[in-house]
Amino acid sequence: MEIIITSDPATASQEAARFLAALIRKKPVAVLGLATGSTPVPLYRELIRMHREEGLDFSGCTSFNLDEYVGLGADHPASYRRFMQENLFSSINLPAARIHIPDGLTQDIPAHCAAYEKSIAESGGIDAQVLGIGSDGHVGFNEPTSSLASRTRIKTLTQRTRSDNAHFFASENDVPHHVITMGIGTIMEARAVLLLAFGENKADAVAGAVEGPITASNPASILQMHPTVKLYLDEKSASKLARRDYYRWVFENKPDWQRD
Ligand code: F6R
Repeated sequence: MEIIITSDPATASQEAARFLAALIRKKPVAVLGLATGSTPVPLYRELIRMHREEGLDFSGCTSFNLDEYVGLGADHPASYRRFMQENLFSSINLPAARIHIPDGLTQDIPAHCAAYEKSIAESGGIDAQVLGIGSDGHVGFNEPTSSLASRTRIKTLTQRTRSDNAHFFASENDVPHHVITMGIGTIMEARAVLLLAFGENKADAVAGAVEGPITASNPASILQMHPTVKLYLDEKSASKLARRDYYRWVFENKPDWQRD
């Protein structure tokens, strides 16, 4: 795991955007795994800036989002389809036909999930998966005790996650209980994983994921088994890492050839 501790979310997001931009420039047909929620918003803003000012070209790319609320369609203001449209897709040139987000209105969830997995495989697999992390350690919507080998499927949100996400809805009661999410096994097959975490509310989950045991009780801890993971943190989310001085030293003293 590479732990990148920066002063603030904007700097961390610029670092993550630099990695994605380098990937897209090297591989114009890159397959991107994308996340929603508050965390990736500054990353998407930076990618939009790079598209507008530096000609970052998404026209050959494909995307797969991690998750969607069951029962919410594109017209619902809190749906992840709508979120992605507003925060990224409407401002870059990623072709609509190659954008994939689980369909919250599907009538056959198991068949839809199997087809989602199939289309990830047919695209050649995800080159870089962007992740946030829940305050309970979830990635995608793989809540604690999710199988570490799970594939795309329906999950039930914990009450904690429903409260954490209530600010996207009119009231907490409106937050759906069910979601469709890529599984942990699906996420682990991405060739690179970029996990962003900001704020004090994430400090326990981050410390557990990086320095705790690998356990389904903190699903992000499975990333310790992934060969190419970068964690982009701010001071607050990194505050409970016992070895944070070491991670800082490693990042500041990276050989030039190792920089993206
Ligand atoms: C979103 C997702 C979730 C969020 C997590 C953190 O697609 O899969 O795992 O990344 O709930 O959410 P925020 O960023 O709103 O704190």
